[in-house]
Amino acid sequence: MSNAYNVLVLPGDGIGPEVMGEVRRLIDWFGENRDFNANVDQDLVGGAALEAHGEAISDACMDKALAADAVLFGAVGGPQWDPNPFHLKPERGLLRLRKDMELFANLRPALCFDALVEASSLKPELVSGLDILIVRELTGGVYFGEPKEIRDLPDGQREGIDTQRYTTEEIRRIARVAFDLAGKRSNRVASSEKSNVMQSGVLWREEVTWVHDNEFAGVELEHVLADNCGMQLVRNPKQYDVIVCDNLFGDMLSDVAAMLTGSLGMLPSASLGAPDAGGKRKALYEPVHGSAPDIAGQGKANPLATVLSFAMALRYSFDLGSEADLLEGAVDRVLASGKRTADIMTKGGELVSTSQMGDAIIAELNAAAR
Ligand code: IPM
Ligand code: MG
Repeated sequence: MSNAYNVLVLPGDGIGPEVMGEVRRLIDWFGENRDFNANVDQDLVGGAALEAHGEAISDACMDKALAADAVLFGAVGGPQWDPNPFHLKPERGLLRLRKDMELFANLRPALCFDALVEASSLKPELVSGLDILIVRELTGGVYFGEPKEIRDLPDGQREGIDTQRYTTEEIRRIARVAFDLAGKRSNRVASSEKSNVMQSGVLWREEVTWVHDNEFAGVELEHVLADNCGMQLVRNPKQYDVIVCDNLFGDMLSDVAAMLTGSLGMLPSASLGAPDAGGKRKALYEPVHGSAPDIAGQGKANPLATVLSFAMALRYSFDLGSEADLLEGAVDRVLASGKRTADIMTKGGELVSTSQMGDAIIAELNAAAR
């Protein structure tokens, strides 16, 4: 047996606990059946942590996250916390995790499984075979720039301020991640910004070009304004391989990309830090979807985005690419067999619950491992 990895599981709110429950079963399956050994700890984040500790993530939980080999995250938020003041919003827990762990690179692969071509709101020929990767900058930009406040004006009005700010090095390091990954794929990067109206966009374009010309001249680079990129994603998404963009545009474009794959319930993501001296990266794995409070606790949630995020953990944090392939293959076959949660229902599909989807994946894993 290999050394045990420390895994911190943070189910969070809404459908988070349900979808993460299926991942816990998978962690157990890989522990029992494969060369994967994990010490699993579980803690609270988001609204759940607010209720228990009065903050969206406790310092003790943050320390565990910083020490873990990988953090598996579910979802945060819900209408009961909507009236909360800004610093007491459930989302602050996730944003603190990203910031304090310095997870600047968020990888959001949008892959359309053959069986789900009909589930997309786009024409089948537009999405069939789709395989794009959005590389989103995750610790800078308007999410974290200061000042960030609502202030009173002398004339009695109020003014809301967010600050978009990027430095050379912040842009260069995310560009390197994008070019590097493109080299392992179809060797094309589209960099998306609004250099026609934003100074940070002008710098973004210049610095991405600099990294390209000086370090990755062999990769094809295209610049596309973010609004046009959104339009192109619904017009002809397969023109893209890797899309690199800032924090806010990445948030928006990845929701668009998710729908191309059939449902927001399908998109996994990995949030990675810089490699340390030993080559290890801090990492958090999170589905792109939210907490879906309207269907929480009903067994309707699609666990696949979270399951596929765990596959990304196997690949990026545990160096178990073949185990990730095994899990992704099992998901592929479950979908091919017609099993569907409601969000990805297609004609003739068999409606299953969250845990039945988990059962089906485990049955496929057992069959493959036999
Ligand atoms: C995402 C989510 C988060 C974000 C929220 C929950 C803070 O929408 O990961 O895409 O805006 O980054
Ligand atoms: Mg989002």
